[in-house]
Amino acid sequence: MSFAGKLRLGVNIDHVATVRNARGGAYPDPLRAARIAEEAGADGITAHLREDRRHISDADIEGLMDVLTVPLNFEMAATDEMQQIALRHRPHAVCIVPEKREERTTEGGLEVAREENRLAHFIAPLRDAGCRVSIFIAADKRQIEAAHRIGAQVIELHTGAYCDAHAEGDTKTRDRELEALREMSSFAHSLGLEVHAGHGLTYDTVSPVAAFPEVMELNIGHFLIGESIFLGLGPAISQMRKLMDDARS
Ligand code: PXP
Repeated sequence: MSFAGKLRLGVNIDHVATVRNARGGAYPDPLRAARIAEEAGADGITAHLREDRRHISDADIEGLMDVLTVPLNFEMAATDEMQQIALRHRPHAVCIVPEKREERTTEGGLEVAREENRLAHFIAPLRDAGCRVSIFIAADKRQIEAAHRIGAQVIELHTGAYCDAHAEGDTKTRDRELEALREMSSFAHSLGLEVHAGHGLTYDTVSPVAAFPEVMELNIGHFLIGESIFLGLGPAISQMRKLMDDARS
């Protein structure tokens, strides 16, 4: 099986909206961030419309659909409301994520194996509408096989456990998590799934994941938006792009 194309960077702009919403009003504008990200080399924009609308709003999604020149990756929970919104906008890609109201961020991968039937019926209309369907899961063979069976075209592997172990200085766990990501990228690719990865990636953790030849896209948000306070958004993204390209070559 071949590896087509360069490693893509999807920039997640959720936390521009988090800062905006801390005060209400219109600033900083996630659409402006998306335009800067495009100019800085983002291959796509990712936005998660959460059920509680804590960051991205419905109007943001409408605005992104109007102005983007790169694909929108619409992250959503597997609910009827979100399915209707996705079917109305028909973004290039949808990524189905687990969502709990009390969590600070998307803490784990989706339990596909336990909900196979429901999820198969849930994603079918999205696929029929032309959206590329991705499922956000842990690096776990059972979940990957289930994602394949329900008809997802893409899996996104959750890199949070690897990044957390790195941040805590727990090198043993970090290396074990990285090895699981490597093995499961290869396994998913062998099933014909396109492999993406993301969550918690930083300049310090991106390179080993970017080096996996099966990984076609990384989705990165929180660190880049934080780093943009110091560097500016465009330069922060360019630096990430460079690390990804260097790791790949
Ligand atoms: N990929 C998915 C599916 C996510 O849910 C998130 C976080 O919303 C990310 C990537 C990006 O994670 P981070 O903001 O930690 O870079």
